[in-house]
Amino acid sequence: MSRLAYVNGRLVPLADATVHIEDRGFQFADGVYEVAASLNGRMLDWPQHVARLGRSLRELSIAAPMSDAALSIVARRVLAANRIRDGLLYVQVTRGAARRDHPFPANTTPTLVMTARPFDFRVRVAQQKTGISVITHPEIRWQRRDIKSIALLPNVLAKQSAREAKAFEAWFVDADGTVTEGSSTNAWIVRKDGTIVTYPASENILHGVMRGTLLALAREHQIRVEEAPFTAADALDAAEAFLTSTTAPCLPIVSIDGNRIGDGTPGPVTARLAEALWSEVERQTGWRR
Ligand SMILES: Cc1ncc(COP(=O)(O)O)c(C=O)c1O
Repeated sequence: MSRLAYVNGRLVPLADATVHIEDRGFQFADGVYEVAASLNGRMLDWPQHVARLGRSLRELSIAAPMSDAALSIVARRVLAANRIRDGLLYVQVTRGAARRDHPFPANTTPTLVMTARPFDFRVRVAQQKTGISVITHPEIRWQRRDIKSIALLPNVLAKQSAREAKAFEAWFVDADGTVTEGSSTNAWIVRKDGTIVTYPASENILHGVMRGTLLALAREHQIRVEEAPFTAADALDAAEAFLTSTTAPCLPIVSIDGNRIGDGTPGPVTARLAEALWSEVERQTGWRR
């Protein structure tokens, strides 16, 4: 079955799906996006993704292409048309197509594209047992990382460095040594006293949906939480480290830049959080490992 994409009101075969070459997404990366998970045919944390998309659009004064309710209907249609039960939905909105000129064009219709593809979350369940490695990378991004912008070149470069180092992820490290987040994931450590620490929600990081879900679950399970900056040195000294995202819900980190974290195996606090997270996934979607 060939994949179908939604482009500005129409479902078309992916190979035929196109946008205008003067689309501001193509010309200026003038757009935003979301990635949401479908498990067992149901969306995970969908209201949070819709809310973040709305916020990203408002921050850039891009008109919403449709209401939240309509967006949800189209999302379901795209998943169903592609027969996806376990998979990922991509939503991308740009300011639209207009003669190339930096300032916002007048009266442009935003471009809305949605695609979906299968994704096997069991791969993540397996990685939870082995753990993954990260490397560090200089923080080279702009200062509005809270906007889920499609301008991802620094993230692409960081992830490529990780791939070349055979690591799963690259952590961005500021000039003062602070770890902000990963190239497509939020960064966490577990201090030796059991407190979990992640960078505060601010303009310096993307407010990950999974980050929010995990914070709530940690509090529910009486795990001490601190939203505070930590350095790469703090991470090396931590009992455990892990990362979160929609596509990698809660993965233990066993090495950073080739240095072992803790005893070099996935730690108990991360395992407990991952358990809580998969239970939450099951509660929302009925999906079971
Ligand atoms: C830079 C960055 N940080 C964090 C995340 C995790 O966000 P979420 O949990 O919403 O997937 C992403 C996801 O794409 C990201 O690109």
